[in-house]
Amino acid sequence: MQSTLINQALHVAIIMDGNGRWATRRGLPRTAGHREGVQTVRRVVEAASDLGVSALTLFAFSSDNWRRPDTEVRALMGLLRHYLRTECKRLIDGGARLTVIGRRDRLPRGLADEIGTVEQASANCQQLDLRVAIDYSARDAIASAAAAWGASDLPSREAFARLIGPAGEARCRDVDLLIRTGGEKRLSDFLLWEAAYAELCFIDTLWPDFGRDDLAAALADFRRRERRFGGLGQGNALASVG
Ligand code: FPP
Repeated sequence: MQSTLINQALHVAIIMDGNGRWATRRGLPRTAGHREGVQTVRRVVEAASDLGVSALTLFAFSSDNWRRPDTEVRALMGLLRHYLRTECKRLIDGGARLTVIGRRDRLPRGLADEIGTVEQASANCQQLDLRVAIDYSARDAIASAAAAWGASDLPSREAFARLIGPAGEARCRDVDLLIRTGGEKRLSDFLLWEAAYAELCFIDTLWPDFGRDDLAAALADFRRRERRFGGLGQGNALASVG
């Protein structure tokens, strides 16, 4: 990861969909698609800061993914463990700070410790804030924040956001651009609070086929959009809601 054009914080979140179909179309087991998906993760993490992304959140395993067959769940957990073991040095060399969001108490034995080790080792990196969502549910994150607030008075948005983000983060970061690969057009319980004003980009390309050029194209499209945050667009008195 070379130095970058970061001139403003840019948070991109990706729903990495399509691994299973990629494999099935080739007559391979679905897990082969997930393995190939890890290669894409490497490519995209490397490209992200070059392309001006300062924070990247990847949806690796949703809390609803426990419903998948045991073999697939085990394969995914194995790939995550392997990624942490083999990528730690590369992440640090590239200036990426890794944080995992989601529950850790249901992960296979030892995985939470391995996550903690990489988080600690990369804690001082500043080029890219890489967040991987594992056993993650946005609804659960919002419900836990509400439970943690506990009081009867309504929290401010800022106070509530501090409770939603991972421990130690000043507040959860708003998503600027949310990309979903694989052709489906839904959010699947991903970053529902943080994506309130995210620009959405749905791409047909299956995750294993996604690459640097696709990320660059999504960012170029994003930069052409006018973000109004509910206000009026520049010089456009007729701008509508959103
Ligand atoms: C969705 O595709 C993808 C997943 C549930 C897993 C994503 C995981 C990885 C890319 C690998 C591990 C990640 C890291 C960060 C090392 P799908 O299986 O639902 O695809 P389909 O819709 O074609 O069936």
